[in-house]
Amino acid sequence: MNSPLTLHPRHRFPDDFVWGVATSSFQIEGAPHADGKGESIWDRFCRQPGAIADGSNGDVACDHYHRLEADLDLIAGLGVDAYRFSMSWPRVQPDGQGAFNDAGLAFYERLVDGLRARGIKPYLTLNHWDLPQALQDHGGWAHRDTVHRFVAYARHVAARLGSRVEAITTHNEPWVMAVLGHESGIFAPGIRHRGTAMQVAHHLLLSHGLAVQAMRADGCTARLGIVLNLSPIGPATDSPEDVAAARLEDGRSVRWYMDPLFKGQYPADVWQHLGGDAPQVHEGDMAAIATPMDFLGINYYTRGVVSASGAWNVHASGKPLTDMGWEIVPEGLTELLLRMHRDWTLPPLYVKENGAAFQDTLVHTAEGPRVHDVERTDYIAAHIAAVGDAIAQGVPMAGYMVWSLMDNFEWASGYAKRFGIVHVDYATLARTPKDSYLWYRDFLQAQHARRGQPVAAGG
Ligand code: FCB
Repeated sequence: MNSPLTLHPRHRFPDDFVWGVATSSFQIEGAPHADGKGESIWDRFCRQPGAIADGSNGDVACDHYHRLEADLDLIAGLGVDAYRFSMSWPRVQPDGQGAFNDAGLAFYERLVDGLRARGIKPYLTLNHWDLPQALQDHGGWAHRDTVHRFVAYARHVAARLGSRVEAITTHNEPWVMAVLGHESGIFAPGIRHRGTAMQVAHHLLLSHGLAVQAMRADGCTARLGIVLNLSPIGPATDSPEDVAAARLEDGRSVRWYMDPLFKGQYPADVWQHLGGDAPQVHEGDMAAIATPMDFLGINYYTRGVVSASGAWNVHASGKPLTDMGWEIVPEGLTELLLRMHRDWTLPPLYVKENGAAFQDTLVHTAEGPRVHDVERTDYIAAHIAAVGDAIAQGVPMAGYMVWSLMDNFEWASGYAKRFGIVHVDYATLARTPKDSYLWYRDFLQAQHARRGQPVAAGG
C-alpha cells in the first residue's frame, strides 16, 4: 500500500472530528416487497427500458435487509465513529401518507440499536431519493402537498428514533433529485422539464426547513441538517462567454441551494435567467428554508468545468479519471471548503460523501480473496489530506465520510460501477474488504491514537 497512514504534520484533525462511512437504502437493501414495503420511484424507474445501463434493478442489491448483523460487524471492523445510512420512506410508510409500517420501522430500529451497541454513532438520512411511488402518482416533489407529507414522515421518524441517532439529514442532494430527476430525466422519476425541476428544488428546500422546525418543536434531540452535492465550478477558458457560463452554472448548482438555506433568498442572476421556469414561492417559504440548522453536509467527487459552447472535454486537462469518467481533483475539495467558509456563515461542516469508482479485480491469495484497489485508496487518502489542508487554512471541519461501505446499485449505472471499500460478489453476495478498507481502518486507528495528544511543535 502506497498511501501513508499518517498525514503531513500540518494535517491535524480535531479530537472530536467524526470519521465515518456511508450508504443509502435503495442502493444496498434489496427486499423491495418484504414486510409490507411500498413501491418507490426507483423501483418503478428501473423497469423503464433503457433507464439503467446494465438493465438491472434494486430487487436484491446487496441484500443488506437480510444481512444486517454481518454488515454491522463490517462497519464496526473499520473503527469508524459514525455510519451514515438512509431510511426508505416507502418501507416505513408504504403510501407516503397515512399508516406507518411497524415492521419497516423495526428494521431501522435494529440497525440503530446495532450501531449503538457497537459504539458507532447513527447518522440517519430521511430522503436519499426513494420517494414512495404513491406520492409520485399524485405529482411527487412537484406537488406542494408532498412537502407536508414529508414533514409528517420526518416527525414520526424523529419521535421514534430521534433520541437514539446522532443526526438526522432531511434530504440528500436536492440538486440531483431536481435536475437529474426532473430536467435531464436520467434519474427517477425520469421527467424532462426545467420548470418542474425548479419547482421540485423549491419544494425540497421548503420541506427541509419545515421538517427541521417541526422536529425541533417536537423536542427532537438529534442534530438536524441537509446534505448538498457541491463542486467548485470554473470556466474552460478565460473567455468572457465561458466565465459567464461557469458563473451561471455555479448559480444553478451551488448558490441556488446555499443562498436560500443561509441567506433566505434565491440568487437574482439565476432567477432572472430562469424566466418562466422560476418556481412558485409562497409568502413565508424563504424564511422557513433559512431555518438555522445544526450541520451542513457536502458530498464531493470532482470539480465542474464549463464552456459556453459545451465543447469542454474531460480528457483535456490530462487529470486522471475515475471509472465514472470524473476527474480526480483533491485540491478542488480544499478550494470548495475555503469558498464555502468565505461566502456563507455556516454551522459545523462535514464531508458526508467522498469516494471513487474503479474497476476492481478480486484476486485469490494464500490469505484468501483480496482486492488491491490502490487507486481508490490513493483517492481517499488524497481527499482526506485535502480536508486537512482546509482545516489548516481555518475552515472548522467537523467530519469526513467515505462513500461507500460496499459496492452497490449505482443508480442509472446499475452494478457496473463499484464505489465500495468492501467488494460485493453479486452472484454470491459475499463481502470482501478491499485494501482501501484495510487502509482506512489502519488510518483511523492511527488517528484515534493521536486523540488527546498535544500538537507537536510546528505541527
Ligand atoms: C452521490 C449519491 C450516492 C452515490 C454517489 C456516487 O451523488 O448521493 O448515492 O451514488 O453519488
